[in-house]
Amino acid sequence: MDKKTFIIKGDICYSESLDEIKTFENHYLVCEGGKIQGVFPEIPEKFSGVPTENFEGQLVIPGFTDLHLHAPQYAFRSVGMDEELLEWLQARAFPEEARYEDLEYADRAYGIFAEDMKRGATTRACMFGTLHPEATLLLMEKMEATGLVTFVGKVNMDRNSPDILRETKEESAKNTLRWLDGAKGKFKRTHPILTPRFIPSCSDGLMEELGRIRREYRLPVQSHLSENQGEIAWVRKLCPDASCYGDAYLRWGMLGGELPAIMAHCVYSGETERRLMRENGTFVAHCPQSNMNLASGIAPIRRYLEEGLRVGLGSDVAGGTTASMLRCVTDAISVSKLWWRLKDEDCRPLTVPEAFFLGTKGGGAFFGKAGSFEPGYEADILVLDESRIPWPGHFSLRERLERFLYLGDDRDVLHKYVAGERLF
Ligand code: GUN
Ligand code: FE
Repeated sequence: MDKKTFIIKGDICYSESLDEIKTFENHYLVCEGGKIQGVFPEIPEKFSGVPTENFEGQLVIPGFTDLHLHAPQYAFRSVGMDEELLEWLQARAFPEEARYEDLEYADRAYGIFAEDMKRGATTRACMFGTLHPEATLLLMEKMEATGLVTFVGKVNMDRNSPDILRETKEESAKNTLRWLDGAKGKFKRTHPILTPRFIPSCSDGLMEELGRIRREYRLPVQSHLSENQGEIAWVRKLCPDASCYGDAYLRWGMLGGELPAIMAHCVYSGETERRLMRENGTFVAHCPQSNMNLASGIAPIRRYLEEGLRVGLGSDVAGGTTASMLRCVTDAISVSKLWWRLKDEDCRPLTVPEAFFLGTKGGGAFFGKAGSFEPGYEADILVLDESRIPWPGHFSLRERLERFLYLGDDRDVLHKYVAGERLF
């Protein structure tokens, strides 16, 4: 029988919608050919004879999607967390990213990153590399070897950047094509994504070139949007004709539409910007830890959800100190409480089911059917180990999941499956 056809017995939790976590104690999760068939109290007749793994008493949940992180920044995560975005980029992020011209350094740094991503609770991710085509291909090779499904982008930046980390418009377009050609036909689960860093780093001429490449290669796009007040004021000066920051992407076809887009942060997205994102099906990557560390502010996610925006979660390493999606889920709840208490009493905090949904099915939607155990979904599965966090009395399955989200970490993932393939 195909290795991607199996049954897991355990205490199963997953989301179908924002408002509820489905829980099934001592049930059977059936996967056939890498796709979920369903959750059953007994093994259905049709699947008798399918190999069954007995994880009785253990939590079994869908894998998490990290919709936004910077692979080259993993090396310095949690160092220098006392600056705001624009100073932090100059002082920390740009100098570190410039090092990836050296492939030996890239090999060491991306090796550490890939190993940690493999071990953790993330099963799918969308990440920035650096502007270097070779190092970005190396990152793609390493991600491919982890077994995770990822989108990886060579970064584009041709203005307002230090000499050590800048291309001309022509170089940027040429290097993008070289990177795309280098990746062509080479990977099964690692996909290219167009990555203009953000408007301040990309001239109109470069955006026009990238728009052409996007259409020709049918590429999704990822970037940053309305993260910080200083950045927004800067974009207003750089693009005086744009009705809002989001419009500065939209005019180059970079806000979504037929080819999808992920915009990280959206802390200060006003009415017009939110309407444009809704109309274009833009994915908002909410990065709560980065919002705190870089003192950017808090994205009012409940409002966005009420308005029907598509939202997932991102660690934004190294704006976020950790790549753990467990922290990302609980920090999304925490920052929403501060927003409610300090800014808007009508905007209730996110609940555990809502934050869990965003970390799994919300971000997973960027990959199609991922992040849930409904029939037809990709079999991205985590078997969790609660032995580090024992408890003396009774907790419901829902409560056990909740305390795992808060108290567990990436070390506590016992087994991980991505699209039905067991990684460990
Ligand atoms: N905006 C442009 N570049 C970056 C980056 O590397 N991190 C974050 N958080 N925001 C950005
Ligand atoms: Fe970022």
